[in-house]
Amino acid sequence: MQIAIEVLMNEHRLIEQALGSLETYAVEVRAGLAPARQIVGEYASFFRGFADGCHHGKEEDVLFQRLLERGFPRQSGPLAVMYHEHELGRAHVGALSGIAERPGSVQTPEVEALLASADAFVPLLRQHILKEDRILYPMALDVLSGPELDAMNTQFEEFEATMRVDGTYDALQALAERLIVRFRPDPVRMAAVSQMAHCGR
Ligand SMILES: [Fe+2]
Ligand SMILES: [Fe+2]
Repeated sequence: MQIAIEVLMNEHRLIEQALGSLETYAVEVRAGLAPARQIVGEYASFFRGFADGCHHGKEEDVLFQRLLERGFPRQSGPLAVMYHEHELGRAHVGALSGIAERPGSVQTPEVEALLASADAFVPLLRQHILKEDRILYPMALDVLSGPELDAMNTQFEEFEATMRVDGTYDALQALAERLIVRFRPDPVRMAAVSQMAHCGR
């Protein structure tokens, strides 16, 4: 596997774990756990800072740009779908942030909004990752040359340099790991996601 694509795929694995954790959190809230604004804010921080800011940022600013230069259309086809799904994901994470930022205990309509966002966001991003792993990234490996992929990896390093220097990158990974330990992804669901990712390969 070429390193630049491997970097993106490794980020997918962490994002999948965080999605599994959010899914478990939603199950626990449905079972009666009172949601805490701080926890909701931690999920929002990880998905906004890492999944969107770092990972989708690398895709949109680097990978997708190279594919656009190679003639992939912006308004139709796989790139259009990927951009659109990034936008849908931002709306769900924005809803989580909105809940996290309000004061006081979480009210019933907010619990419903939290669960609705989690229920929509988790499968959306899982399916998105699946499409990239199985369709978009293999296409990129087909059309981009070795030197182009190497240059892309350098651009990734430049992209995340600021986040690494100020500690944001490590802090977001540590945040995800804490959430994953506290609200453990369901191993049966995670195995099903992994099986989906590998079937047909
Ligand atoms: Fe993406
Ligand atoms: Fe991705």
